[in-house]
Amino acid sequence: MKAIPSIVNKDGAWKLMADGKPMILLAGEVHNSSSSSLSYMEQVWEQGKKLGMNCLLLPVTWELLEPEEGHFDFSLVDGLIMQARQHEMKISFLWFGTWKNAQSTYAPEWVKKDTKRFKRAQLEKGKSFVRVKKFYDLAYSPLTYLCEETMHADARAFAALMAEIRRADGEEHTVVTVQVENETGIMAAARDHSDEADALFYAPVPADFASYMQRHTDTMVPSVREAVENGKESGSWQDMFGDQAEELFSAYYTARYVNTVAEAGKREYPLPMTVNCWLNREGASAGSYPSGGPISKVREVWNFCAPNIDIYGPDIYLPDFQGICKEYTRRGEPLCIPECPTHSCAASRNLYCIGKFHCICYSPFGIEDMGRPLDPAQMALFGADASDPALMTSQDVETYSLINHLLEGMMDRLLSSYGTDRLDAAAGEFGPESAFHMDGVQIRAKFTGKEGGCLILRESEQEFFILAYKTWLHFISDCKDAQGIDLLAFEEGHFENGNWHRGRRLNGDEVVANTFTAEEPVLLRVKLFTFA
Ligand code: DGJ
Repeated sequence: MKAIPSIVNKDGAWKLMADGKPMILLAGEVHNSSSSSLSYMEQVWEQGKKLGMNCLLLPVTWELLEPEEGHFDFSLVDGLIMQARQHEMKISFLWFGTWKNAQSTYAPEWVKKDTKRFKRAQLEKGKSFVRVKKFYDLAYSPLTYLCEETMHADARAFAALMAEIRRADGEEHTVVTVQVENETGIMAAARDHSDEADALFYAPVPADFASYMQRHTDTMVPSVREAVENGKESGSWQDMFGDQAEELFSAYYTARYVNTVAEAGKREYPLPMTVNCWLNREGASAGSYPSGGPISKVREVWNFCAPNIDIYGPDIYLPDFQGICKEYTRRGEPLCIPECPTHSCAASRNLYCIGKFHCICYSPFGIEDMGRPLDPAQMALFGADASDPALMTSQDVETYSLINHLLEGMMDRLLSSYGTDRLDAAAGEFGPESAFHMDGVQIRAKFTGKEGGCLILRESEQEFFILAYKTWLHFISDCKDAQGIDLLAFEEGHFENGNWHRGRRLNGDEVVANTFTAEEPVLLRVKLFTFA
């Protein structure tokens, strides 16, 4: 029997193992409703294939999985697995259960209608819904993270899903990870205000959690660290965590809930489990983004409450893509991006995340639309800077596809360089030029467009593979006592089954003065020689 997919950390490198081999998920997330229809999905698989993706992130919804309590319909799940196999792709399922974007719209009818048994959060005391301007004045009424009935009902449904995945896929491993819920947390208030919530909020903070928080201040974001350090040794949430108390309270009960769901699923089939995050803007208050969701700010709470969660993935729609990648890796955790826009920097971000952060998954959202004009209203909603043309232009499909195909060919080499300094990258979005210093050689990259990107992989002494797009490259010596430099080989090409297939051998005008301009994506083999 082949090993179940897992996440491993060996020699400082995080890897997703599928069938005993590591893989990078060159993935794409489909629109929310696409995977509710197998016939609709046919064209989406084609698009994923065309884009060179090896995995699709697909919602599985509670309402369709368990339309009547205790009666499960696995036909979609089974059908999606079969389709993935036909297209030789993997799946990461997204469990849309109690939460989807801080709402509960995917709960089945029998849950939605029984508001006594499946309680809603009271975002204002005594009210079962509040109007939220941001959601077009919606009567907003998420299920509460404090309702044990809902938590166990969700956990039973999720366990049934995982048992079915094991039955249908326990041998082949088409499904490699599962996301538990989607963008958890509550909007419009920092915490639930029901009587039950108040009682818990004013009661003493559980002692084991209080002590964990006090022992883990070194990794906390400054605002939470200050709150913990300035708070009392013990007491109510307010006593211990001051102005952060309500968000930490929500995070504690949300994480505990999600962990219960994940644990029930893992008992059936222990695939790597992930959560995704609706991110907070700097200085924003909890409730203007989902309070309690697994953002970096409350990571220590989630780490304590949710040991069954293996990976935390930021949905990066905010402008500071690079800063967010750093924040989500600074605690020594793997980078996994389940969602980001399909604008014209999507391809270079792919190169960048693999080359710079050695990520396990990069997945733009709404791949059906890649290449189509972007909707400005939607982009603004996603936090894109509408004044930046690169972020308002759609990703060219051929470019994305070519880069993914070149990456797929290099996969084994990339993975064996994960966790080492042999693999690096830069992108035009984060600065107009960059310099890589390896083996006494300086490889300079100037981006000819913000969409440009460049990944460098050291193959052997002064020999490199360079995947470049919209980049002007220049090679100079970095050795004080050996300033001379020759190009010994400069080739375009690609990998097939681990073997290098050369295209043009470049020389003369194409590499004049040790320079090369890659306007289209190209993989280069560059062999250099420095001498005194
Ligand atoms: C983030 C969510 O997680 C996705 O399901 C989707 O709603 C996107 N936002 C944008 O539409």
